[in-house]
Amino acid sequence: MSKPVFWLRCEKKEFERRSALTPTTAKKLVDTGFEIFVERDDQRIFDDKEFEKVGCKLVENNTWPSAPEDIPIIGLKELPESEEPLPHTHIQFAHCYKRQAGWSKVLSRFHRGGGTLYDLEFLTDASGRRVAAFGYHAGFAGAAAGALAFAAQKEGKQLGRLEPYGNEEAMVAAVKAELGGSGKGVKALVMGALGRCGRGAVDLLRKIGLDENDILKWDLAETAKGGPFSEILDVDIFVNCIYLSSQIPSFITRETITAAGKERRLSVVVDVSCDTTNPFNPIPIYDINTTFSKPTVVVDGLGSEVPPLFVVSIDHLPTLLPREASEQFSEDLLPSLLEFPARKTARVWTEAEKLFQEKLGEAVKAEGL
Ligand SMILES: NC(=O)c1ccc[n+]([C@@H]2O[C@H](COP(=O)([O-])OP(=O)(O)OC[C@H]3O[C@@H](n4cnc5c(N)ncnc54)[C@H](O)[C@@H]3O)[C@@H](O)[C@H]2O)c1
Repeated sequence: MSKPVFWLRCEKKEFERRSALTPTTAKKLVDTGFEIFVERDDQRIFDDKEFEKVGCKLVENNTWPSAPEDIPIIGLKELPESEEPLPHTHIQFAHCYKRQAGWSKVLSRFHRGGGTLYDLEFLTDASGRRVAAFGYHAGFAGAAAGALAFAAQKEGKQLGRLEPYGNEEAMVAAVKAELGGSGKGVKALVMGALGRCGRGAVDLLRKIGLDENDILKWDLAETAKGGPFSEILDVDIFVNCIYLSSQIPSFITRETITAAGKERRLSVVVDVSCDTTNPFNPIPIYDINTTFSKPTVVVDGLGSEVPPLFVVSIDHLPTLLPREASEQFSEDLLPSLLEFPARKTARVWTEAEKLFQEKLGEAVKAEGL
């Protein structure tokens, strides 16, 4: 029987340094009998040589379209826009199942090519929970960005451009330095603290030196009474990490912020959840996503009598920690990848394929094919 194979393609999305396979997980696949082709990619946080060293075969950048059609292509983010039919099996985030802009065009490429999409966002375990997600490092990096914005604000400045960090330690050290050596004395509230993003945010706040009592950890039990919550106005940094699934009362509003007057402690809101354009956004005080080049936006409409309030609303936070975020994601994905040769019977893959066929049907209808 021939060996199972994966082809790790390059990423073409700007600033994307993360990778769906890492040298660590590629090695584990190779050790269990997989053959792994890896496209050379300068953009990827891992050197090509790291993959070569663990037994992967390097191939040229962006050559997956000419790979044999029976080799599954694994990547992370969307493919560049194109009309080209897709005959391969692709494992990636495609962002086309929730009717995002251009969704039916993306799926129609699979229809025309006869290929299959296994969308990483929809690989779930038996209880419906995603097998792999980037939440932890989103929360970790989001809390770091919040602490940096807080430090800048104390100096009367607005946070400047953020660049990816080599690793967690470097990020923690940089944040501590900006805070004058430690975050001790800073107070924060993490909403959704029991989730993936929330746990990451709490860990960063601990690592930069906040006292345990100064990290308020809220989840469903604490918000059951219904917002808005004055407790949020009494911390320096509010990190929102909830998974919003229905309409809930706002956590804070422009009115509650204004009413708190000059004595308000809250300086920075980090909206990791980033439900920016969702009509049920429980933080209805801003309406744009911020970026690495301009990480904060000031809340308008508060009046000149009260201190400024900044929001960080970056929707690709794990990119700030590409190495660790990739390692953790890929490690979580690995058990499913090991099952891929049995994808016609392994639940995680049969379910993902069923969903793909459903969405493909909708796209074929929408495109009138
Ligand atoms: N900004 C980014 O770069 C980025 C990256 C990854 C994920 N996210 C987003 O972060 C959000 C959270 O993701 P996750 O993987 O951590 O989800 P998760 O399901 O692991 O955790 C969500 C947590 O929120 C809690 N929660 C839900 N509703 C609540 C409420 N009303 N009050 C208090 N707590 C509540 C849940 O109990 C849970 O503990 C998602 O919207 C996700 O899309 C953003």
